[in-house]
Amino acid sequence: MMKIKNVSIIGLGYVGLTMAVFLASKGVRVIGVDVDKEKIEKLSRGIPTFYEEKLEYLLNEGIRENTLEFTDSYEYAISNTSITFVTVGTPLREDGSIDLSYIEEASTSIGKALKKKNSYHLVVIRSTVIPGTCLYSVKNIIEEFSRKKAGIEWGLCMNPEFLKEGSALRDLSKPARIIIGEYDKKSGDILEEFYRQIYSDVEIPILRTSLSTAEMIKYANNAFLATKISFINSIADICEKIEGCDVVEVAKAIGLDFRISPLFLRAGLGYGGSCFSKDIKALIEFAKEVEACPILFESVDQVNQRQPLKAVKFCEQLIGNVKGRRIAVLGLAFKPGTDDIREAPSLKIINELLKRGANVVVYDPVAMEKVKRLYGEELVYASNVLECIAGAECALIITEWNEFKKITPQIFKEYMRTPAIVDGRRIFNPEDFMKAGVKYMAIGLGFNYSTR
Ligand code: UGA
Repeated sequence: MMKIKNVSIIGLGYVGLTMAVFLASKGVRVIGVDVDKEKIEKLSRGIPTFYEEKLEYLLNEGIRENTLEFTDSYEYAISNTSITFVTVGTPLREDGSIDLSYIEEASTSIGKALKKKNSYHLVVIRSTVIPGTCLYSVKNIIEEFSRKKAGIEWGLCMNPEFLKEGSALRDLSKPARIIIGEYDKKSGDILEEFYRQIYSDVEIPILRTSLSTAEMIKYANNAFLATKISFINSIADICEKIEGCDVVEVAKAIGLDFRISPLFLRAGLGYGGSCFSKDIKALIEFAKEVEACPILFESVDQVNQRQPLKAVKFCEQLIGNVKGRRIAVLGLAFKPGTDDIREAPSLKIINELLKRGANVVVYDPVAMEKVKRLYGEELVYASNVLECIAGAECALIITEWNEFKKITPQIFKEYMRTPAIVDGRRIFNPEDFMKAGVKYMAIGLGFNYSTR
């Protein structure tokens, strides 16, 4: 099979842009397409639109080496490449179901551009879409606007991604597996061959499936991880009611059972981010639509919605009514290593504290600007940890940034008005705090822990 040298990527958000720079770094000529002209202009000048490790470097390298270019023209991108990856967003509608309008718009534009092209072209959907989207929506729209038949004049694959924010480029360089959902064998063969060229130096399992199975795999993957988190958070909830019990030790022990694995068993204030919560909700709505049973996922979602509020409950248990009192919130990003605050537990906690009249002072090493844009004058913004805890009556650990792990009970005692700590991510050793006589409550930690 011929070596594929040119690909286009439609939708330059998180998934699209990281993939574009990665493929360009592998010597593929990549044309990135987005309808946002301002974004195209920025990227063409080598300015990334979000932070991700190594992104800026690879973006500029690609531009310099002429392997990477950006345009808002579908026609240009499609006529000059032989594979198009679609990585547009699939947000939720008000009712929790998936909004496929960006996928439909992209399919329409691809169809129109394909109409003018004379050679075979492969379309690969990489966005997270509910099962059936590729086979019914995408295929039909492209056929209608291109007047060309799928499987003959153009091919179609569904190729979900499993990137984690903060390690997207590392994840891309060695994925655990590649899933190729295919409309027909030829489409799958071309994509498999492309990936075999990209990953010629590493052994990556490639699984070939139907389009709908590939769509389902992405949801099943995220739903399983979210379930693991809500599972351990539910165990944590029970541990808290048991004298001398600790969920961290429970998780460590069950994680050693190789059927369970230790990953994604960290109890805390719940999962955030742009994907888990959105995908679980979309899966629930889809299950209802096809009259399947979504109750497990409804519970996963409910557990996760309750989890952040525990920080406020613990805070009140430690110091009583928060009205008019200075509460330090340490950590705003939905996880360490990113400035992303989408669906972050911190926002729910801040809202609840404000509702109860607390005087909220916040600090995060990178996400301050984004939070400032949301809350303006409503919060006090500290420029470092010590400024944040100074004079506070309770400090809540919301995100497990490394710099927070270094705060000792003595530091809290010295700076806070009355030291009381809620460890929402289990970053401290409870015994250190008990010994130092600092009021301390933590997710999944039973009462009288120090007396055991
Ligand atoms: C997640 C998945 O891990 C990726 O595989 C997937 O591709 C991506 O969603 C997506 O669908 O695009 P991401 O949202 O970047 O990636 O973040 P994770 O590292 O998975 O963490 C998600 C949330 O779970 C965070 O808020 C984290 O704090 C929380 N978490 C994670 C826990 O509370 N406990 C754990 O043990 C692990």
